[in-house]
Amino acid sequence: MKVTINVNGEERTDEVESRLLLIHYLREVCELRAANIGCDSSSCGACTVLLDGRSVKSCTVLAAQADGHEVTTVESLATAGELHPMQAAFRAEHGLQCGFCTPGMVMASIGLLKDNPSPTEAEVRSALEGNYCRCTGYHNIVRAVLSVAQQS
Ligand code: FES
Ligand code: FES
Repeated sequence: MKVTINVNGEERTDEVESRLLLIHYLREVCELRAANIGCDSSSCGACTVLLDGRSVKSCTVLAAQADGHEVTTVESLATAGELHPMQAAFRAEHGLQCGFCTPGMVMASIGLLKDNPSPTEAEVRSALEGNYCRCTGYHNIVRAVLSVAQQS
């Protein structure tokens, strides 16, 4: 089947299998490999991207379901050499170590602040509970998200 998807601001049309998952579409068809595959049970959140501005686990969405919609991945965030405020905050607060979870964490955090621009610490922790990090212990990630919320 043909899908037309706006990926990071550029509309593209591709022939895909109807069963193709959005994460595989992004990684294999679009060659955008920042979003990771960390599980086979829809639980780790490493594959999180924005679909029409809302964070989704792209391993739980078919590319066909994104037909006619906008998908945003972490590759599009930095502009003119400037990190997006969320990326800058993760760096400033040491919210990453190995970086495997980071693209998903950043996108989930951006999605959270879209819905709730002034979350409490508990709300940040609750919103990110579907995103696993095996390195940081989460504290610095939560600090990074709260620091972006405080800037706005
Ligand atoms: Fe783990 Fe999508 S790859 S939730
Ligand atoms: Fe390594 Fe989160 S920084 S899994």
